[in-house]
Amino acid sequence: MFTCTATIDPAFVIAPVPHRLFGSFVEHMGRSVYGGIYEPGHPEADVNGLRLDVVKLTKELGVSAVRYPGGNFVSGYRWEDGVGPREQRPVALDLAWRSLEPNTFGLNEFMTWARQTEVEPIMAVNLGTRGVEDACNLLEYANFPGGTRYSDLRIAHGVREPHNIRTWCLGNEMDGPWQIGQKTATEYGRLAAETAKAMRRVDPDIELVACGSSNERMPTFGSWEATVLDEAYDVVDYISLHAYFEQHGDDRVGFLASADTMDRFIEGVIATCDHIGAKKRSRRRINLSFDEWNLWYESRFVGQDRLDWARAPRLIEDEYTVEDAVVLGNLLMSLLRHSDRVTIACLAQLVNVIAPIRTEPDTGAWRQTIFYPFALTARHARGEVLRVAVDSPTLYSRTLGDVSAVDLTATREPDSGDIAVFAVNRDEHQSARLRLRMGIDGAHEVVEHVVLGGDDLLATNSKETPGRVIPRSSTRHGIEDGFLDVELPPVSWSMIRTTPIR
Ligand code: AHR
Repeated sequence: MFTCTATIDPAFVIAPVPHRLFGSFVEHMGRSVYGGIYEPGHPEADVNGLRLDVVKLTKELGVSAVRYPGGNFVSGYRWEDGVGPREQRPVALDLAWRSLEPNTFGLNEFMTWARQTEVEPIMAVNLGTRGVEDACNLLEYANFPGGTRYSDLRIAHGVREPHNIRTWCLGNEMDGPWQIGQKTATEYGRLAAETAKAMRRVDPDIELVACGSSNERMPTFGSWEATVLDEAYDVVDYISLHAYFEQHGDDRVGFLASADTMDRFIEGVIATCDHIGAKKRSRRRINLSFDEWNLWYESRFVGQDRLDWARAPRLIEDEYTVEDAVVLGNLLMSLLRHSDRVTIACLAQLVNVIAPIRTEPDTGAWRQTIFYPFALTARHARGEVLRVAVDSPTLYSRTLGDVSAVDLTATREPDSGDIAVFAVNRDEHQSARLRLRMGIDGAHEVVEHVVLGGDDLLATNSKETPGRVIPRSSTRHGIEDGFLDVELPPVSWSMIRTTPIR
């Protein structure tokens, strides 16, 4: 066992916990929509074909916002194909995933689902094959009250009230060579700026997300953000970040410390935003929308070009282990500690496609391992995020160098003074003795300590064994010399809830 110390002081507030940090993502891809959230005829489906078991688990997961309809899919999407009488909707070729898109689910069905699931919608517009005019038409259809061509079309489709969708993404991963309609940074920056300007005329109350780099490894990372913001700084509110993590080679420590990579990525994008802001002498501040993040065994994916044409094919339905769940819990900690700038984040995706929720046609939905750290963080991270000082031994990663063996972050509810501590022990062999000093807030006691990990790190949940992995309650904590003492098993994620002793 090794020892580490953390000081948590309620005076050091980073920011309020952003409501939309617990967002997710539904793309027309694989079995995310068809056979995921929407499966007419399934015993769990309602009259609209929406699977109620998925609605229930999405609520339990604590999802606050959902980005839709893509992803790569959106760069070739004609939104008009997905509205109006179903029998008149065409079957289309989805070039992003070489799939047949039946268009039986579209904007209005998504909004019915979003209302039922009590999530805020985040819409993306197609800036791959389309542009300013189509983005404005879609916004007019969605948000304009009535009396114009597209708002009246919505009303004719049976939706009298405007959807009033607040947040809109200006395309998706436009720097990626895999993207339909890939652009250079200058081309995209100009298009994003012009689209933003026009969309704001249609509806001045919207907020807009410009595409950042597809990931931190893109050769143009940094310069892409700078060029795009040089063009669009004054008319967008957010820049997007995407990141998927998996173990590379034998660098297990590097994988377990993926949150350090996420920290560095976020801080690089903040620096770029603020550099452009300073250059422009602007009073505006661009925030970050981490609107795709997760673990993805991407190296096992055959690639879009090698897929056969199919309807709702099984695409990247990765099964997650306990170890993956530990890493995912740590990634959420990275998002939380940057909550002064990252105020939207979407776990990609929600159902079946690299997802916390899985479904099959012949059974009810179940929770993957990664469901648990997300749900527990969404439930317990309340109030304000606190800056935590951690003193921990280090581990060596071939790719990252020295990384902290224990990582943690904390949130505090101002009214009750309750503190939720989220902690990971990345050491493969030893438990950590975590000594928590609660700063000027006085003595605290642990009221709940939930652990995931410690053993059986390769265990997964499946259709056959949906309840094999669940978090367990721990009693391995106490108070010594004014410190809260908590034991963190090797390779584990913990949520430790404390309350002031009165
Ligand atoms: O989430 C799967 C895909 O990953 C999305 O379509 C795309 O935006 C990203 O590359």
